[in-house]
Amino acid sequence: MRALTVIPGRKHSLALTEMPEPEPSPGDLIVDALAVGVCGTDKEIAEAEYGTAPPMADRLVIGHESLGRVREAPDGSGFAPGDLVVGVVRRPDPVPCGACAIGRFDECRNGGYVERGIKQLDGYASEVWTVEPEYAVKLDPGLERVGMLMEPTSVVAKAWDQIDKVGGRSWFEPKRVLVTGAGPIGLLAALIGVQRGLEVHVLDLVAEGPKPELVTALGAVYHHEGIEAVVKEGEPDIVIEATGATSLVADAVAATGSFGVVCLTGVSPEGRNVNVDVGALNREMVLENDAIVGSVNANLGHYATAAEVLREADPGWLGRMITRRVPLEHFDQAFDLGPEHVKAVIELERS
Ligand code: BGC
Repeated sequence: MRALTVIPGRKHSLALTEMPEPEPSPGDLIVDALAVGVCGTDKEIAEAEYGTAPPMADRLVIGHESLGRVREAPDGSGFAPGDLVVGVVRRPDPVPCGACAIGRFDECRNGGYVERGIKQLDGYASEVWTVEPEYAVKLDPGLERVGMLMEPTSVVAKAWDQIDKVGGRSWFEPKRVLVTGAGPIGLLAALIGVQRGLEVHVLDLVAEGPKPELVTALGAVYHHEGIEAVVKEGEPDIVIEATGATSLVADAVAATGSFGVVCLTGVSPEGRNVNVDVGALNREMVLENDAIVGSVNANLGHYATAAEVLREADPGWLGRMITRRVPLEHFDQAFDLGPEHVKAVIELERS
């Protein structure tokens, strides 16, 4: 079979590799891949800035935004041939730490977790993959074209869960949400905000391309004129930062009204310094009881929430988020999207 692999830490090593189909461990599902989504983490791995190969291997099969169709499922696994499935990204650390021991592996404390397609486990960008049924999630058959959005949706479901928990420390009835960044994470965060009946504003840099339409089609408001202008219209109760852009992060943190909750989801490069008045920021955060929370990954509960979010969403809208679809042999075209694009997907289905 063909797989998209990389030598972690070595630039320009991303390549199509011919390899044997994976051997299922007892109880595993065998899955024929349909597609994988490509995100910023995949680009970082391709640029040799992130990622670790499995022990004893040079190459890592990338891909963590999976979608496939079950080929073989053991009796009693809860799956049947033909089911549409997504594989979960993270596995708990083997110790396990206190968080992993209770299924909160998304909040692993000792860093000993592993991640498919990212850290020490082969991913899902291969024509066939296997997965343990307890780390596979069944999708509604109607999501065949867009189900690879499940993983980023789970990440966003977790971010909203964090916001609920942080806001829940007192009276919390948020009305206005600002999402910074209209990439996949930002748009899916906006989708959940709208599904919750909130007034959602989305800020991005671009004025053209599909992003403005995607935001307005949700019933949210699109902005591209800078964060000050958005905040002047009304301070948000919640900010979901989905760019990781250094200057915007500082502004996003300062943007909320009283008892504001800022959730940071974007991974930024190190070494980009900006001039921030930490005194003013500290003063505002203290006097307003503001909170900032970082959020990464997702546990099984968040995948279940994500499946509901996608089931309720308009499949046409989800489909328009995928602004580029490429066959496996043209994988490189999924790694060079301009800022107007939203999501690239690599098709893996064998003809
Ligand atoms: C993935 C997460 C993962 C994180 C860090 C993100 O792109 O969506 O599942 O935990 O990268 O590796």
